Amino acid sequence: MKYNEQDLTEIIEGLSQKQKSLPSKFFYDQKGSELFDQICELDEYYQTRTEAKIMTDNIDQITSVFENNTLLIEFGSGSSLKTRLLLEHLPNLSGYIPIDISKDHLLKSVKQLRFEFPDLEIAPMIADYTRALTFPPIHRAVEHKVTFFPGSTIGNFQPEYAKEFLRVIADECGQNGGLLIGVDLKKEEKILYDAYNDSKGVTAEFNINILRRINREFDGDFVLNYFDHEAVYNSEHGRIEMHLICNKDKQVHIADKNITFKKGESILTEYSYKYSIEEFAALASDVFVLRNYWTDENRLFCVMYFDVK
Ligand code: TRP
Repeated sequence: MKYNEQDLTEIIEGLSQKQKSLPSKFFYDQKGSELFDQICELDEYYQTRTEAKIMTDNIDQITSVFENNTLLIEFGSGSSLKTRLLLEHLPNLSGYIPIDISKDHLLKSVKQLRFEFPDLEIAPMIADYTRALTFPPIHRAVEHKVTFFPGSTIGNFQPEYAKEFLRVIADECGQNGGLLIGVDLKKEEKILYDAYNDSKGVTAEFNINILRRINREFDGDFVLNYFDHEAVYNSEHGRIEMHLICNKDKQVHIADKNITFKKGESILTEYSYKYSIEEFAALASDVFVLRNYWTDENRLFCVMYFDVK
């Protein structure tokens, strides 16, 4: 079999809906991961820098919630930039499990982290963390499992899936477990719009890269120039919606399938939900209790610590 059948099915199903869509996990091939790192450095993309500042400014308080014999698990670790800060302030962790779907990207950053933190056991997992996980064994005693989920990636799940996923995290961390999570807050629309429609076009390039990947891995024939990036804020749902809008009537082939595009029709590639602190605490409240949170002076972003209920 030439293609990953499960992935191909997901792609074709997404493109067969009335509102065509593609699973956002396909963003993160090597090039996509690099482009995403570039997004994180854009002037307009305030999230990464704000989250990093919140963590730097409050690192003592944040790390004070970590008890002895804690295993740190990170979802979607990518380049693990913010993790460094945690690791530097948590010299007694039982271990660190970074989980990411982008293999080369993950292994490259693990190599670097092992060099910087030679006494820390690092057990990377290459996995789609939305599917069930079995953690690798860790040599030191583990009494607490804390998941670190930065970058407001939770906002990329629709609320009902976010809820389900929070339950999976709580189950995986178990009793005495915790969750340190970055959440992008609701704010003035212009700031949100600009963060997803940057002036250098990096976000556009990132969005379109998903088509390039489908061409390569699933024998697609998307013509990239026929698609334009557009992100819009939907205030009713409190979310940014990322689209690729087709500017021409076109037939596209993927593997042996045919997909018809009308001019103006879009592919939805990602949602990015924005929450108030209260909304997010309520979303998590089936399985987590909010212990503390930290935010920046403009209340753009929030880092929250939850205990498993
Ligand atoms: N978690 C990021 C966010 O929602 C992901 C992201 C940023 C993204 N820019 C993007 C996803 C552009 C798709 C397209 O902010």
